[in-house]
Amino acid sequence: MNTSFKNWTAEEKTAFAASKNTEFLERNPGEVLEYFLKEFPGKAALSSSLSYEDQVLTDMMVGIRKDARIFTLDTGRQFPETYELIDRTNMQYGISIEVFFPDFRKVQEMVREHGINLFYDSVELRHKCCEIRKIEPLKRALQGVDVWISGLRRSQSVTRAGMQMVEYDTADDVLKLNPLILWSEEQVKQYVKENGVPYNRLHEKGFPSIGCQPCTRAVAPGDDIRSGRWWWEDPDHRECGLHVRH
Ligand code: ADX
Ligand code: SF4
Repeated sequence: MNTSFKNWTAEEKTAFAASKNTEFLERNPGEVLEYFLKEFPGKAALSSSLSYEDQVLTDMMVGIRKDARIFTLDTGRQFPETYELIDRTNMQYGISIEVFFPDFRKVQEMVREHGINLFYDSVELRHKCCEIRKIEPLKRALQGVDVWISGLRRSQSVTRAGMQMVEYDTADDVLKLNPLILWSEEQVKQYVKENGVPYNRLHEKGFPSIGCQPCTRAVAPGDDIRSGRWWWEDPDHRECGLHVRH
């Protein structure tokens, strides 16, 4: 089944995703990961931003298969704490997270034309930066991938409330798997604590959700967990376009 996924029709892919979603939505994330890693060997990959959620998935995946594919998109604008966590995670699990970089020519051209911190100037320029620094590298990272695993949770934001455990992502022609889709923030934190999962030190400094350094700020206790991301924009549209294409 797995080897020919790309050859299925769009209808077959959509129907498969819907049936697996019904089957797995209420199931334990570990079991769901086990199924997909077994059925799509070498073709299922986690995109990790090194968030709490992605670290939980890394722990689960490495426990199932040491050679599970995990990649991260290095935008060039991340926090030093995030880079440090990549190393710490690799060391702790004895793995090597694949790092994808943006096309330097596109970055160079964008920065020359619009300035290094263009994202503060308009929503369009912010999307342009995310497109060049994250989305284009994501497309390269997803070449040859049939199952794109991600740490999305419904309760993270209004933009994610309608997301499913398994979906067919037509834009990227992959099955999108969100094993933690129904988990609460508390469940994620508890898993991290109980299993000694390495996490970003910024979480202890008021950063519940961490993206690029210039586009993330600390939030006050009790504030919406994503309110520190692109804080100057309207909350209904605060996505980088990885999961919700503009
Ligand atoms: S974002 O879209 O607003 O940046 P968020 O930080 O909540 O996303 O992460 C949601 C999911 O997007 C993560 O679980 C991960 O799968 C993916 N993701 C976000 N940023 C990256 C990145 N830099 N590298 C790889 N995956 C990422
Ligand atoms: Fe650029 Fe900010 Fe998007 Fe990072 S989050 S890619 S710095 S606009």
